[in-house]
Amino acid sequence: MNDTNILQLDNVNYEYRNKYQSVKAVNSFDYDFKKGLFYAITGKSGSGKTTLLSLMVGLDTPSGGIIKYMGEDLKDMNMDKYRRDNVSLIYQDFNLFPLLTVLENVMYPLQLKGQKKKDIRHLAVEKLAMTGLDESYHKRYPSMLSGGEQQRVAIARALVTGATILLADEPTGNLDTENGDNIVSILKSLAHSEGYCVIVVTHDLDIASVADEVLQLKDGKLIQ
Ligand SMILES: Nc1ncnc2c1ncn2[C@@H]1O[C@H](COP(=O)(O)OP(=O)(O)O)[C@@H](O)[C@H]1O
Ligand SMILES: [Mg+2]
Repeated sequence: MNDTNILQLDNVNYEYRNKYQSVKAVNSFDYDFKKGLFYAITGKSGSGKTTLLSLMVGLDTPSGGIIKYMGEDLKDMNMDKYRRDNVSLIYQDFNLFPLLTVLENVMYPLQLKGQKKKDIRHLAVEKLAMTGLDESYHKRYPSMLSGGEQQRVAIARALVTGATILLADEPTGNLDTENGDNIVSILKSLAHSEGYCVIVVTHDLDIASVADEVLQLKDGKLIQ
């Protein structure tokens, strides 16, 4: 294993099956994702993007093939721990907790792990600063923020767990062009300056044009 390879997919397949038919949503997918790079996965609706994402996050297991995190087969790992500590998801609709303040939203994943508020506050403040949100935002509620600001909070929350892989499903889908571009540059600098492996699923060609690597899916297959 090359030491920058963090997530390796080796001949990965995924089939949705029922009594009548089976759909091969991911078909012989081979790829090594590395730390420090910003990836865009593109493809038409139905090409397998969401399915691939759910395999990488460990929400589903491949029908065939192997996925390795830092050289270790996901099958041999504790999936709850993998999802809690090693990968973070960022959503199109932000998924913030409406009744928690900005700072509380970002601290929440660590509180779930049993850590005390007073011990984690500084970490949450630091991650918010990395997305460009200073103290004046800490006590606001999500409803008092623009879409772009909400997505920054969601990114800070994804960073606070210490995960090195950030997976985002259409993170700019609900944003105007300017806010979308800002989110993309934050994600890109997290990859380039902080060493995260950032993987964005999108049909936004503007994101694809600034990505380090573009993976194009067609009928579950990597075509480029
Ligand atoms: N729960 C499911 N049951 C059966 N087929 C599914 C299910 N979810 C997705 N599919 C099929 O798998 C293929 C890939 O879907 P998906 O991963 O959602 O693609 P994308 O995110 O690129 O739009 C499509 O043909 C879709 O119809
Ligand atoms: Mg999808």
